[in-house]
Amino acid sequence: MRKLWNYTVSWIGCICPITLYAMLCKKPVLKTCQEESLFFRYNCMMSKFFALIPAAGSGSRMKNNLPKQYLQLAGRPIIYYVLRTLCRSSEIASVFVVLAPGDSEWLKHDWSEFSGKLVVFDCGGATRAMSILNGLKAAPDVLSIGGDDWVLVHDAVRPCLSETQLDKLMNELTDDAVGGLLAVPLADTLKRSGASSRVERTESRKGLWQAQTPQMFRYKLLMDALSRPGSMTMTDDASAVEALGLHPKLVLSDASNLKITYPQDLILAELILRAQQKEGYGECG
Ligand code: CTP
Ligand code: MG
Repeated sequence: MRKLWNYTVSWIGCICPITLYAMLCKKPVLKTCQEESLFFRYNCMMSKFFALIPAAGSGSRMKNNLPKQYLQLAGRPIIYYVLRTLCRSSEIASVFVVLAPGDSEWLKHDWSEFSGKLVVFDCGGATRAMSILNGLKAAPDVLSIGGDDWVLVHDAVRPCLSETQLDKLMNELTDDAVGGLLAVPLADTLKRSGASSRVERTESRKGLWQAQTPQMFRYKLLMDALSRPGSMTMTDDASAVEALGLHPKLVLSDASNLKITYPQDLILAELILRAQQKEGYGECG
């Protein structure tokens, strides 16, 4: 008994201060008690990273019969570049793609290059958030994914995400209690329109950021956030997490990680991809 007591005292004396010190050194600024308790719960764990790509949209603003994720960009479908960047990351264990049920385009392409990491679901929903929630629900049937593992949700139509941006996101958030997203401070002056597209007033852009993806949250937190009423119409994952009273971290990105929404975005994305190729990020098609 005495031996056990001595052992316990020496363990508390040696290990705990080191652990506490390590925790405090890495401790980010947290806003709420809820965030504090999440930090201490997660801090000493080894969580895995997964990526989830919602790819069940139709691209209505692109005005093309083909869903925009399959449109050609520098000789390959747009989604190819997204898969390549995420599958190449040695940190990411698996990449889930969520397609629309009955998607007839996916099988027309050869994805064998990614077969080691790629898992395909055909359970897309009516909104982006529904597609993500359906993908999250399907994931544990095919792979062991823990509640504390990280999920990086990345749009199928952001093909210019660089390895540097991806690594920065994971590095800055790996010990974070809440998670966060890539984002860019707004650069343009903001006008609020009134009737007939006339300026009503100029809005301050102070403190305003444009959200991008990947958005990185722990599996259980993301499931909880997206399962709440009202979350299915939210256009990003962070909004659903914010509705839980949490404050996702904004990780500084840049405009090169653009989302292809309108036809003219294709031209810009191709220029960026070719410039990245010159810098050695990877080859185009
Ligand atoms: N998405 C999805 N399921 C939906 C709607 C969107 O998986 N029901 C995906 C898209 O495929 C895309 C990402 O969410 O990868 C971002 O959405 P967005 O740019 O809005 O794409 P679309 O919804 O396809 O385009 P639009 O809004 O112009 O119709
Ligand atoms: Mg949409």
